[in-house]
Amino acid sequence: MIDPIGDTLVARDELRAKITELGARISADYQGKDLVLVGVLKGAVFFLADLARTLTVPCAIDFMAVTSYGSSTDSSGVVRILKDLDHPIEGRDILIVEDIIDSGLTLSYLLKNLRSRKPASLEVCALLTKPERRRINLDCRYIGFEIPNVFAIGYGLDWDERYRTLDHVASVREEAIAELTRA
Ligand code: PRP
Repeated sequence: MIDPIGDTLVARDELRAKITELGARISADYQGKDLVLVGVLKGAVFFLADLARTLTVPCAIDFMAVTSYGSSTDSSGVVRILKDLDHPIEGRDILIVEDIIDSGLTLSYLLKNLRSRKPASLEVCALLTKPERRRINLDCRYIGFEIPNVFAIGYGLDWDERYRTLDHVASVREEAIAELTRA
């Protein structure tokens, strides 16, 4: 099997510095608020764990798992909840934490769904965004990095459920994609 780990898109040190910066902004913005970080499984787990530990304000953590119908590379926009939040969010300050915004369809659904539960505020913090792939305009308050429209792995992002544990974000090598297509 061809090693799929290609060029570095975001290095480990860049991730660390950006997360510290985002954590400082979030800590300043959520002083005196009732902050709940909502992680979207599974990709956001690593980002959320690192981000949460930079915060200087108290926060609760909850998770949702969703899946979109259709193929993983061309999301249909129809989203199904596999795991809902453990607790109600009415009146609380919700920050959705995502690893990546691609088409924006997952996030668009989540925003609509969570808004209907009447939180005091609802914002988004996404580590990565692929602007070229966006199909819906979204208001995202905290963004880490814009990356090009290539298949990316690492720091939560998977290639057939593997490589999430890479300590940086890399592209998948063309040869590995070609090999998979041939198989
Ligand atoms: C990824 C990512 C977002 C979604 C973004 O999750 O974590 O939730 O896709 O895509 P979109 O903007 O086109 O909707 P994925 O479904 O790959 O699940 P995972 O986090 O478990 O890998």
